[in-house]
Amino acid sequence: MQLIETFKTQRLSAERLKFQHLNELYNMHQSQKVMATLGGVRSDEEILLFIFNNLHHWQRYGFGLWIFRDKINHQFVGRAGLRNVEIEGVNEVESAYALMAKFWGQELATEMGKKVLKIGFEILKLREVVCFTLTTNQASQRVMEKLGFKYEQEITRANLPHLFYRLTV
Ligand SMILES: CC(C)(COP(=O)(O)OP(=O)(O)OC[C@H]1O[C@@H](n2cnc3c(N)ncnc32)[C@H](O)[C@@H]1OP(=O)(O)O)[C@@H](O)C(=O)NCCC(=O)NCCS
Repeated sequence: MQLIETFKTQRLSAERLKFQHLNELYNMHQSQKVMATLGGVRSDEEILLFIFNNLHHWQRYGFGLWIFRDKINHQFVGRAGLRNVEIEGVNEVESAYALMAKFWGQELATEMGKKVLKIGFEILKLREVVCFTLTTNQASQRVMEKLGFKYEQEITRANLPHLFYRLTV
């Protein structure tokens, strides 16, 4: 399968996650503000594990996370992509996104999500994609709604209540 190495959105450029992005992931995963809704800040070992797991995901499935930078200053904005995940015993593909806090509130998560879903449906030929977030993460719930996801049920992940959404073509 041809891997999607790079692509662009209106304001961002994306590149496939590589080991060279480790420093950027460190910055993100050690930010209390960003990680408050993603299980808390991670240790150096946990961040290494995160990147290895996500590189392995690319190797195994041919898709995964991309790193996004703003087109003008080339600053690291965040990460987003598609990942296989097991939810309540069922294999699903989830849409995932996280942005550095200074870039919140500019509709950038929605911009990333739209393009990632277009890739998922049109190039990877997925039939549906799911998304879930903490019941308290209203910003992420709003992003899911703006992307067209429909609420399905409440689920428990990492012992915490999450809202689970699905988008079907
Ligand atoms: C959640 C997150 C991705 C949103 O990114 P973003 O670029 O600010 O998102 P957008 O600007 O595209 O949309 C955010 C929407 O949520 C709304 N919103 C933001 N904070 C909110 C709050 N506390 N309560 C209700 N709505 C809120 C915004 O008004 C906006 O909706 P609108 O366009 O209708 O006004 C970003 O805050 C983030 O990376 N958080 C940390 C990681 C995370 O939680 N990732 C998702 C895990 S499931």
